[in-house]
Amino acid sequence: MTQVSRVTAVDAVVGGCPIPAGAGVSVITGSANHDAARYDRPDEFDIDRPQQNHISFGTGQHQCLGMHLARLELRVGLETILARLPNLRLDPDGPPPVIEGLAFRGPTSLPVLFDPS
Ligand code: HEM
Repeated sequence: MTQVSRVTAVDAVVGGCPIPAGAGVSVITGSANHDAARYDRPDEFDIDRPQQNHISFGTGQHQCLGMHLARLELRVGLETILARLPNLRLDPDGPPPVIEGLAFRGPTSLPVLFDPS
């Protein structure tokens, strides 16, 4: 998730912008995960990037209850895909992936090639 909704409990100022208590705010957490002050080359996909804490699963009392299941499902899914599709790679003749969405973001399509097993 890259966006969560909240209601401010107290008067606050964020980035110089006053926000009164009781205001509905849309927090773009995806932006925090691309914070150049925290992450080197934040908009570059780098699978070898040193691990750092992030807030893709939220934080605090509403942190994702399913994050361990989600990580397990992703690991099993990716391991299965990589085992079944040898030499999986982006199709160099396909269009570059376009990432879309606000709350949930992802490519609309991802043309790939793999070798016959
Ligand atoms: C990659 C997959 C997932 C991502 C990125 C994700 C992300 C998030 C985020 C950011 C929040 C916090 C929302 C907020 O602060 O308002 C959240 C909450 C939650 N997630 Fe996930 N989630 C994932 C998968 C799952 C799965 C598989 C389950 C359950 C099987 C789950 C159950 C929940 C629940 C119950 C909450 C609400 C927790 C609360 O408000 O106390 N999530 N998730």
